[in-house]
Amino acid sequence: MADTNLPIYMDYHATTPLDRRVLDEMMPYFAEKFGNASSLDHPYGHDASVAVEAARERLARLIGARSGHEIVFTSGATESDNLALTGAMDAYADRGDHMITCVTEHKAVLDTARHLESIGKKVTYLPVDRHGHVSTSDIKDAITDRTVLISIMTANNEIGTIADVKSIGGVAHDHNVLFHTDAAQAVGHIPVDVQDMNIDLMSFSSHKMCGPKGVGALYIRAMRPRVRILPSMHGGGQERYMRPGTLNVPAIVGFGKAAEIAQKEMPDENKRFQKWSTEIIDALSERAGAIHNGDPDNRLPHNISLTFPGIDGKAIINSVSERIAISAGSACTAQTVEPSHVLLALGMDAEDAHSSIRIGLGRFNTEAEVGHAIDAISGAVKDLRRISTLA
Ligand SMILES: Cc1ncc(COP(=O)(O)O)c(C=O)c1O
Repeated sequence: MADTNLPIYMDYHATTPLDRRVLDEMMPYFAEKFGNASSLDHPYGHDASVAVEAARERLARLIGARSGHEIVFTSGATESDNLALTGAMDAYADRGDHMITCVTEHKAVLDTARHLESIGKKVTYLPVDRHGHVSTSDIKDAITDRTVLISIMTANNEIGTIADVKSIGGVAHDHNVLFHTDAAQAVGHIPVDVQDMNIDLMSFSSHKMCGPKGVGALYIRAMRPRVRILPSMHGGGQERYMRPGTLNVPAIVGFGKAAEIAQKEMPDENKRFQKWSTEIIDALSERAGAIHNGDPDNRLPHNISLTFPGIDGKAIINSVSERIAISAGSACTAQTVEPSHVLLALGMDAEDAHSSIRIGLGRFNTEAEVGHAIDAISGAVKDLRRISTLA
């Protein structure tokens, strides 16, 4: 492992390292081309604006949007989720007051839904099956004449299950209901096409695809139907009044470059990740008694969620922490002692949920690192089993 920086980073669902090619493209926009993208009276502002619009087009190409016009820049997927849910429920209050989501969503959606309930909206939280899928017939049954919005994530951040987004969007459209998807873990990792998948609103984030932190986007469909949202913040005309505030030009430029790289490199990366994740799942099942969580077929190629019955997941993570950086689950809830709401929703008990780890592979991992991770984790599990039988 002479060439490897330790600990080896395998927590790509939490965040990703910045790709050097992205950094190179961002650099001029800090000190030389520092203009405000709204100051169109001089070349400084004009250059910044051109760069922002080019980034918008790159994002549009990655997700199959009609044009950059359908992209609103935000600070990340959390803000995009908030803006999509509150903005659509507000804008269509004359249509109804009900939204549908599911219990395994990220907190950015679940906590926003709770907020909407606190201001009088109605929310249905649908269950999932043991692989983490919400049933389209449950969605159909939950729709009422007051339903405005369905929000179901494209890919789960803990177990990697990929939803049948196209069918869910189809159900929404058949009933004249809007469809939002949180695609923070999907965009840049698997092909996502907003036209083909019947998506009206979609949240995604730069730092999940080797771009900079602090910038994200909300796709808002412009035609068939033209989707409206009301802003959550007020104060300026940026992003067509939907998200006011001076744009973070270097970060937006980086996001655009990250999207372009992801689009080109995704097919090759996914071949590698599919092979490596299968190797890790098989080896840890055989050598350390791991059970794989999520959908064995429709999952993010770079995701691995495993349960080691009888062994504390945090103890595994701590004992390998000098060699590999992995996590127990969502970074947003990793500091809590509560078992993962996603694993519980699959039907797992709290003890097994606490015996779970998440590995997220990414662009800069190597074959040698994969072997090292298998050895480190299986060794740690064996040691912990030995200690627990001695106790
Ligand atoms: C599914 C999902 N939604 C939303 C977010 C929040 O994204 P951001 O960090 O860009 O706010 C994350 C990040 O962990 C995520 O995995």
